[in-house]
Amino acid sequence: MPGLMSLREEFGPLQPLKGARIAGSLHMTVQTAVLIETLVALGAQVRWASCNIFSTQDEAAAAVAVGPTGSVQAPAGVPVFAWKGESLQEYWWAAERIFDWSAEGFDGPNMILDDGGDATLLVHMGVRYEAEGAVPAPDADANEEWTIILDVLRRSLERDPQYWTRMASGIRGVTEETTTGVHRLYELAAEGRLLFPAINVNDSVTKSKFDNKYGIRHSLPDGLDRATDVLIGGKVAFVAGYGDVGKGAAEALRGQGARVIVSEIDPINALQAAMDGFQVAKLSSVVDQVDILITGTGNKGVVTVENLLGLKHLAVVGNVGHFDDEIDMAALAALPGVEKVEIKPQVHEWRLPNGRSILVMSEGRLMNLGNATGHPSFVMSNSFSNQVLAQLELYTKPEEYPVGVYRLPKVLDEKVARLHLAALGVELTELTPEQASYIGVPVEGPYKPEHYRY
Ligand code: NAI
Repeated sequence: MPGLMSLREEFGPLQPLKGARIAGSLHMTVQTAVLIETLVALGAQVRWASCNIFSTQDEAAAAVAVGPTGSVQAPAGVPVFAWKGESLQEYWWAAERIFDWSAEGFDGPNMILDDGGDATLLVHMGVRYEAEGAVPAPDADANEEWTIILDVLRRSLERDPQYWTRMASGIRGVTEETTTGVHRLYELAAEGRLLFPAINVNDSVTKSKFDNKYGIRHSLPDGLDRATDVLIGGKVAFVAGYGDVGKGAAEALRGQGARVIVSEIDPINALQAAMDGFQVAKLSSVVDQVDILITGTGNKGVVTVENLLGLKHLAVVGNVGHFDDEIDMAALAALPGVEKVEIKPQVHEWRLPNGRSILVMSEGRLMNLGNATGHPSFVMSNSFSNQVLAQLELYTKPEEYPVGVYRLPKVLDEKVARLHLAALGVELTELTPEQASYIGVPVEGPYKPEHYRY
């Protein structure tokens, strides 16, 4: 992870994160362990949970918890609340633990590092209900997870009616990793409910155009292989969504010789997919041809139970979007006569009442992290270098970031890319001063206007 290593070299001696208390909620993988080590090397204290019940690599969590001494007798590590295969109840217990800094002698964190927005959501919902003086009872149609969240908040309100309000007043800001979490932040800001500044890490070019695309291009087939080892070549694969993640997914499946069909709701992305050579169709129009069905839209209800019933026998079904509501798993489980058989952890055969079966990976949750180990280190070094720079910005320059949602300056985006060139043997061409003035950019960058699309 050359970006993280070089940030340690540059900033380690300066300890710019000294005094930072970071509550982290992000997939507890080996790459995240290196991110945590980097934050600590820059002076921060950290408490950590995963942002998905299946994504933790237990060995990574253990290494972070035990710390650099490597001795279980004398741990000097970071409190980590994450293991592979948490229940939803345990997940939200862990999410609450990263805010409890009493063991360190503090009221709470002063920074959040989030992926998907669950840690941010907890603070914002807590503050809202404390202002209203009560946590509402779940609606009749509330799902299990929402009922658990309301329960966590009800208990904290009973313990301390100002708990989250005090917590929020101490938080300098949040840096958010993914498309779905960023979407939530912009919604909060638009409603005037955002409580502290936020940096949208996802929309650094060196994050979403790399991790979301090239990361998925690697970890999606990895998940499919580890889950099923089914031959991809010759199959019909369907990818819902042709954003950054969908582009990586479709390219990977085509690279393995699948005939790939894409769906989109946005005419621009649909046209892009067509120009890239993919058939673009509604799932319902082609469902009876599909062997492998992948969702990556960040939307809900993308695959209905009727779609699942229409799939070919033993079709493989998985999601790489952040939350598990892309595929209607609840309606699948509620089908009369349906039978769920565990093939192995995170791989289930669903025997359908129509006599066919489908294989669902990671219960409809992020299968590249549930069935494999997520994106590889090199691409995550880009994402996490952005995370570290974003933490540095919000923690060390609070006056420059009033409450709102920001992106990192382009010069830092270019810096992250620069830090990764040498490892790939890239020889970068330098502008001459004449060329720079001809195209109207500084010799040292930034090279593109904000509206440029990479
Ligand atoms: P994006 O916004 O670039 O792409 C999503 C695409 O889905 C858009 O083009 C949108 O028009 C399309 N879409 C929305 N509803 C649809 C529907 N009903 N049917 C078909 N297409 C539809 O977002 P991005 O960056 O590709 O992220 C997608 C999801 O993946 C998000 O939830 C994000 O948080 C998550 N993600 C997951 C990663 C992983 O490792 N599994 C890595 C990065 C992001």
